[in-house]
Amino acid sequence: MIKKIKGTQDILPEETPRWVALEGLIRETMIRYNFHELRTPIFEQTQLFARGIGQLTDIVSKEMYTFLDRGKKQLTLKPEMTAPIMRAYLENKLYARSPLNKLFYIAPLFRQENPQAGRLRQFHQYGAETLGTTDANADAEIIDLAWTIFQRIGLKNLTLRLNSVGCPQCRADYKRKLQDYIRPNLDKYCADCQRRFETNPLRILDCKNPTCSALNQNAPKLVDHLCDDCRVHYEQVKDRLHKLGIPFKEDPYLVRGLDYYTRTVFEITSENLGAQNAICGGGRYDLLARELDGVDTPAVGFAAGMERLLMVMEQQGITLAEKPRLDVFLAPLGDLARQECITWAHKIRALGLITEMDLLGRSIKAQMREANRQQARFVLILGENELQKQEFTVKIMDKSEQLTVAFDQILDFLQMAAKEN
Ligand code: HAM
Repeated sequence: MIKKIKGTQDILPEETPRWVALEGLIRETMIRYNFHELRTPIFEQTQLFARGIGQLTDIVSKEMYTFLDRGKKQLTLKPEMTAPIMRAYLENKLYARSPLNKLFYIAPLFRQENPQAGRLRQFHQYGAETLGTTDANADAEIIDLAWTIFQRIGLKNLTLRLNSVGCPQCRADYKRKLQDYIRPNLDKYCADCQRRFETNPLRILDCKNPTCSALNQNAPKLVDHLCDDCRVHYEQVKDRLHKLGIPFKEDPYLVRGLDYYTRTVFEITSENLGAQNAICGGGRYDLLARELDGVDTPAVGFAAGMERLLMVMEQQGITLAEKPRLDVFLAPLGDLARQECITWAHKIRALGLITEMDLLGRSIKAQMREANRQQARFVLILGENELQKQEFTVKIMDKSEQLTVAFDQILDFLQMAAKEN
């Protein structure tokens, strides 16, 4: 039998209500903050990610699903949304319509990682991006939005970590200082860090290898080497978060796994997740538009992983959605009754009631069992006798009551009775 691909998931019918409810809460909150949904294609030219995210990042160098199409074009299933959003913004000249664009998305993404709990090869993110301003209030608004969604869900025990990775000017200076600090012990660092030493030494600060993190303990901090503009910006972001009452921890060694960041970076982690504890990450990326040969567009955004979020919700006992209860179960007995019932089902559904009818020709006993399993509120029995009299036998399941209702009364009856219960 053909099986699903490792690291992918089927979202089964009993799970979809949780997804739909979560997506509803996300959309509703995004709209309150006046963000507008943008949807982009599942695949893009590989170059978009190679240039946007950075050739040397794990995502681009190891994790992308890249293939040649029949026309020998190199394409990639999107591993993240920030670069596609920026491409769509530039290509559609959204900047010409408005100097500020606030965009959001909910989308499936693809990364060929080693699958484990909370780490999938196809996963889902929601996120928001503000394009067109360097204002620190935009950074604060993005973090407020990310935080507020978690608050509205009712999540507890979250940590927001914040840092500034400066701009290319202050970073160049800092890189040299960091390399001077690491160089004497370079041979003790892991192979990945040694490889990153020349090309991307900042990522060494992020290494989870215990030896490397011990060696990094007294490394110089970028926040101590920010240029004046970047320092003022960072102070403003922190000030706004204080004003918003959003608790955060400064983490001078927080560097994110994508190369486009400038200034603000942040991550939100949950105590309920193991090694893959980040449910949300984001930051400012003022140079990405230029990197993609577009008009200069400073921007800031975040994205959160929906599978990880749903895991935390489950562990904290948070349910946003109950499976909706069946209102009416139509129980026909015999072919003639079934023919009659299909049109009744249509009419009852038109009242807005969730309605099911037996399609398997089951016995009345088996149909009653099914109605109970689906917790139906009303069962409408249509046997030979009822057909002759043009009426239904109605069982009001919560009250264990039974009565007969004529065909020409049934819609009014159900409409009234459904409201009462
Ligand atoms: P990211 O940190 O790569 O950032 O991903 C954001 C979130 O997506 C993570 O915190 C995690 O919850 C979830 N995630 C990432 N990879 C996986 C995976 N393999 N399985 C399950 N969940 C995963 C970005 O993608 C940036 N585009 C965020 C951003 C938006 N920065 C600025 N704007």
